[in-house]
Amino acid sequence: MADIVSTRPDGKAAIAAALPPLEAGACIAIPTETVYGLAADATNPRAITRIYETKGRPSFNPLICHMADLAMAERHALFDPLSRKLAERFWPGPLTLILPLRADSTIHALATAGLETVGIRVPLGFPGALIAAFGKPLAAPSANTSGRISPTTAAHVFEDLGGKIPLILDGGAAPVGVESTILKVENGVIRLLRPGGLSAEAIEAATGLTVQRPEKAGAIIEAPGMLASHYAPEAAMRLNATHVEPGEALITFAGAAPQGLETAALVLDLSPAGDLAEAAANLFHMMKLADASGARRIAVTAIPENGLGEAINDRLQRAAAPKS
Ligand code: TXA
Ligand code: MG
Repeated sequence: MADIVSTRPDGKAAIAAALPPLEAGACIAIPTETVYGLAADATNPRAITRIYETKGRPSFNPLICHMADLAMAERHALFDPLSRKLAERFWPGPLTLILPLRADSTIHALATAGLETVGIRVPLGFPGALIAAFGKPLAAPSANTSGRISPTTAAHVFEDLGGKIPLILDGGAAPVGVESTILKVENGVIRLLRPGGLSAEAIEAATGLTVQRPEKAGAIIEAPGMLASHYAPEAAMRLNATHVEPGEALITFAGAAPQGLETAALVLDLSPAGDLAEAAANLFHMMKLADASGARRIAVTAIPENGLGEAINDRLQRAAAPKS
């Protein structure tokens, strides 16, 4: 069973607990501002293999490599001017950049699935200090069995992977609550590969450029992890609900009260105040609660598409997609 160690008050006990298993090539769960990550030494092939085994994840799917800071990132990837500007503006934070891998990078090919590019981000808060102490990048997908909803608390990780990993660092509820936004700059164009915790509006405001959505940038889904059915609860999902059917659990937003509300098995509001950042932070926990209620289906009211609503709707659509 995994030990649980708090990152409070100053992260020192958590770092002391984390370094031995990381040095030994184990994978451990760490809190990030987006979701909890299943972290291991990105330069050690055995450690990376453990991540794939623990998640039951197809090994063609590349992992995000987490860096302590931009200087560490520059030792592993090549930055064009626009990518560097994005990094300087938004790191540390919920942004992943897909960049050409440097020929002299020590990141192992298993972490990049053999691609010539690497997904890099500098997470906010505690993980930066851990990575600086470790001195090497940490490869970390979300700390959940492949196909399940990403964890936003240490308890979520413990329920799913507590029997498979030696250590869970507990940093409380992840404040952003959805995974990082993934961008790839090509010929001065910013392409959105995955909407996430940094809104397209914020990127556009900082750069004065339009963020290209996947449809506009070309039909192929380029982030290989973007399989249709992902983040799937056990219960079926019904989106843009304007009424509730008997036996359904309801996830609503901003106090919206669809018809038949009184017949709902459970009613959860992502943000009574209508704040999309709060809704993103609550999304995965509320999906898990609705699923655990035993309701046969989860009805979700329409969520605005602006700001973090884009990432929320992306995750809801994946959760509602037919399971293959
Ligand atoms: O917020 C997050 O990003 C979390 C926390 C733990 O940092 N991590 C996360 O990692 O969501 P993961 O492995 O679940 O998602 C990684 C995504 C996948 O869709 C993968 O295909 C894409 O990043 N990716 C990684 N490297 C890539 C590359 N070189 N080219 C294109 N996509 C890449
Ligand atoms: Mg994931």
